Amino acid sequence: MSIRTGNSEGKITGWGMALGPETITNDDLASRMDTSNEWILERTGISERRIGGTTAGLAVEAGQTALEMAGCNAKDIDLLILATTTPDDQIPATSGMVQHQLGLQCGAMDINAACSGFVYSLVTGFGFLKLGYKKILIIGSETLSRFTDWEDRSTAILFGDGAGAVVIEAQEGDGYLRGWDLNCEGSLRDILYAEVGGTIVMAGKEVFRKAVLAMTESAKSSMTAAGLSPSDISYVIPHQANIRIIESSMKRLGIAKDRAVSVLHKTGNNSSASIPIALFEALNDGRIKSGDILLLVGFGAGMTSASAVVQWGEANE
Ligand code: ACO
Repeated sequence: MSIRTGNSEGKITGWGMALGPETITNDDLASRMDTSNEWILERTGISERRIGGTTAGLAVEAGQTALEMAGCNAKDIDLLILATTTPDDQIPATSGMVQHQLGLQCGAMDINAACSGFVYSLVTGFGFLKLGYKKILIIGSETLSRFTDWEDRSTAILFGDGAGAVVIEAQEGDGYLRGWDLNCEGSLRDILYAEVGGTIVMAGKEVFRKAVLAMTESAKSSMTAAGLSPSDISYVIPHQANIRIIESSMKRLGIAKDRAVSVLHKTGNNSSASIPIALFEALNDGRIKSGDILLLVGFGAGMTSASAVVQWGEANE
């Protein structure tokens, strides 16, 4: 368990998202395997998911929207960080293709921390702002459908393809990272993995149990680092894996479940893209206001977990 204090000045100035082009409903899955809409909805909260595209292609779409919203020229971006656990190629990193297609003239790297990858990347990005970079593009992008066994009802019901992106910029004043926490319990590799060339293998119940514990512990650590308590949190932006994981974590944290942003009914689990997609949704529907305090928290294969407390200020708007 690691605890770090925040206070990195930086603001999120643009955000974007993209989803795979093809919609797969629960009924579509029920027509090809032994499951039902009712079972999937009740056990996961997912109604449909979107699949297709490439990790680089979805990342470019989300990144372009974020750059436009931030009013950034591609050449002004100092660094691209791409969170992905489903790269298009083994070598090179997918971030290189994204850098090229967006016309960026900067360093680019992939971070693989599975579904915690976006928060790992966000914290890394704030660190680079401290080192002197001014504008950083951070994207979570995944094509989990390529690593899903479409005959396996215990995993095929869960995953979808998508991307979410933010631009962060160095700034003075409010709108910043107040606390964060990154973890990995590497001994838990066997409960969730895909071998090279293989598909996702998961011990669902064990992952569920660990996920609730890891999300809760990490969220508490970030709040402690920020000097805040659950009552200070305006919205939780959790990893979108299973609505029951989200609700159990919220209960353990003592935060009302209507404070959790949820999009998984229409996206499924987009791994590292799920937190920025949920953030996008909450920003776009106007829920998040100046002064709000956001708790981003995720868990994933590794087994990783990560969280960040971000203050939303006028500077973000
Ligand atoms: N449709 C119908 N029945 C099913 C299905 C299905 N799709 N899947 C399993 N079942 C059956 C099982 O065979 C079992 O039947 P049995 O009682 O006759 O043996 C019964 O339903 C219960 O199965 P469980 O696995 O115990 O169901 P559970 O309530 O645990 O739900 C689920 C399964 C949804 C996978 C849940 O465990 C879960 O969400 N786990 C966490 C998954 C997760 O978050 N993964 C994150 C991945 S993050 C990353 O890094 C990619």
